[in-house]
Amino acid sequence: MTLRLEPGARLVAATHNPGKARELAELLGERFEVVTAGQLGLAEPDEPETTFAGNAMVKARAAADASGLVAIADDSGLCVAALEGAPGVHSARWAGPGRDFAHAMALVESRLAESEDDDRTAWFVCALAVAWPKGPVVVFEGRVDGTLTFPPRGNRGFGYDPIFIPNGRKQTFGEMRPEAKDVISHRAKAFEALKASLF
Ligand code: IMP
Repeated sequence: MTLRLEPGARLVAATHNPGKARELAELLGERFEVVTAGQLGLAEPDEPETTFAGNAMVKARAAADASGLVAIADDSGLCVAALEGAPGVHSARWAGPGRDFAHAMALVESRLAESEDDDRTAWFVCALAVAWPKGPVVVFEGRVDGTLTFPPRGNRGFGYDPIFIPNGRKQTFGEMRPEAKDVISHRAKAFEALKASLF
């Protein structure tokens, strides 16, 4: 069976995070009618898996089966080499319930100091999953490699952007114009893979 997303289809963006819903709607909006899991009143599933792809698939599966619509979900995070890939799938959790990313970035810095490893290699990963109601689920991944810098720089972007310098650049994601981040980001790459396969 060839899986395709037909233009004009009604899709559910399986997220309760307004920032992500906006990003997914921007990526998909011209081609599809996008509603969010929040708008449909769907329950927010846990993220029980140990991989980005696993969590994205769980979220897409749950939203597709509950809504009867094709669902798209994203799971993403920052991986730090010297911390054995942490915070990874727990990237949001490191910021605590108040989503305090100044705290999360300080935690990365102190864990690195404790590790006594001076490797500052890091990468962002994004997994995008698409699920058909009671049907198949497919997942696409994108990754952007870089190095960490402290103290954080720049007030653009979100999350861990102010400590991440993508390879070949001087500015952190927090300093770059959003349009510049959007062409090289993990999310953009995952979306390119999705488009190449499903559009
Ligand atoms: P999720 O909702 O479990 O996918 O959480 C993803 C978390 O990873 C976000 O809350 C951010 O902390 C982090 N993250 C993912 N993508 C980015 C990015 O592009 N810049 C900065 N932080 C990101």
